[in-house]
Amino acid sequence: MTDARSYLTSQGVEAAIASAVAEVIKARPENALQGIADQLYQNGLPWPKRNSADPRDASWSAGAGGEDTVGTKGGGKRLLLASRPVGNVKDTDFRLSQEPVPEPNDGEAVVQNLYISIDPTQRTWISGLTNYMPAVGIGTVVRAACAGRVVKSRADNLQVGTLVTGYLGGVQDYCCLPSFLLNPLPEGVPLNLSLSLFGLMGLTAWIGVNICERKKGDVLVVSGAAGAVGSIACQLAKHRGMKVFGIAGTKEKIDWLVNDVGIDGAINYKTENVEDAIVRLCPSGVDAYFDNVGGNILEAVMRKMNRFGRIAYSGHIDHYNNDSEFQISTYRLIQVKTLTIMGFLCIDHLSEIKACMDEIGGLFQAGKIKVREDIEDGDISAYPKALNKLFTGSNKGKLMMRIAE
Ligand SMILES: NC(=O)c1ccc[n+]([C@@H]2O[C@H](COP(=O)([O-])OP(=O)(O)OC[C@H]3O[C@@H](n4cnc5c(N)ncnc54)[C@H](OP(=O)(O)O)[C@@H]3O)[C@@H](O)[C@H]2O)c1
Repeated sequence: MTDARSYLTSQGVEAAIASAVAEVIKARPENALQGIADQLYQNGLPWPKRNSADPRDASWSAGAGGEDTVGTKGGGKRLLLASRPVGNVKDTDFRLSQEPVPEPNDGEAVVQNLYISIDPTQRTWISGLTNYMPAVGIGTVVRAACAGRVVKSRADNLQVGTLVTGYLGGVQDYCCLPSFLLNPLPEGVPLNLSLSLFGLMGLTAWIGVNICERKKGDVLVVSGAAGAVGSIACQLAKHRGMKVFGIAGTKEKIDWLVNDVGIDGAINYKTENVEDAIVRLCPSGVDAYFDNVGGNILEAVMRKMNRFGRIAYSGHIDHYNNDSEFQISTYRLIQVKTLTIMGFLCIDHLSEIKACMDEIGGLFQAGKIKVREDIEDGDISAYPKALNKLFTGSNKGKLMMRIAE
């Protein structure tokens, strides 16, 4: 009989993910994330540690005292968290350290990070608020997804020189991870694309559009529309036959969305009243909303939603620089308009990656998805400045740092 791992690999699921998912299928089929978490803990790595096998248990969250004081093993230049930031991050919130490149243990590989993914959620990982992963501990390397090259290996399935991505690489020159956490790149996929379309950005867009989609011709509004997740979501939804309207913060982004990406219309939330603009662009109301930002924009869209509308709650970047909880003044509209709001995390959907990649990979190969990347050259000391770009909106597409060739 085929074991779960061989089956998943034969179905085209990347080996590392297949391995993790296979363990879950054996242990607790109801929760993929927990199975991966267990593997990480066995290897002494940080990941949400739950207090029970119940997948609903969130008691590992930072609010309940969960803090990762280990971080990903690594070396070279490393960026450690020095204090919990208030507002936009400052250089003084971090400390640079220079450490030897580690030696891998059995089953591990050392990767030279070439690209470091810069994501809004990294700001939430270094805050003290309850989160979906433990907070990065003070003195610990800042958590980040990376893409790079294997330089030392004691894992049978990973040769030196292999290009890989890893979701826990960290803001450091070298990381050391068990091989099942490192995904070798399929031939011909550039490293940068493995952090944008073919990484968690593509999966997030795909999951959110699945939540929003009901029938062709439905009106979808996407906030953060010109960004990494938003721009893929816009194009995927358009391809599936929805009418798509984006919200973004500069004229250049609005022009790109309408003229290059080809969505049905776009709203500049910095110069227009969002509600008035929705009335003008979507006279029959809004059927679905892909929410990347929360805040006033969420409230404005909710006021213009049709009955039985769907909201895919991807993120609330409007509030990531703020350590207090926020309120939604339009909460009652969920009942009045019988709306469905679904929060989601891409990491709970790793087992769907094959279906996702089949669709968006196919669209990309057919030239039907445009990918925009914003690649900053420099060393890891430039991280705080790069992270802040996400909050001023000065990034154009998926933001990442290229720290080595
Ligand atoms: N649920 C998941 O599993 C998951 C996974 C990945 C990402 N996400 C979420 O998806 C969202 C987008 O992430 P991304 O990586 O694609 O980033 P991104 O959209 O490429 O960059 C962030 C953009 O957000 C906009 N923004 C910043 N502050 C804003 C504010 N106060 N109000 C409105 N817009 C604001 C800026 O664009 P403008 O110029 O348009 O203002 C900025 O360029 C984030 O909320 C992130 O946490 C969720």
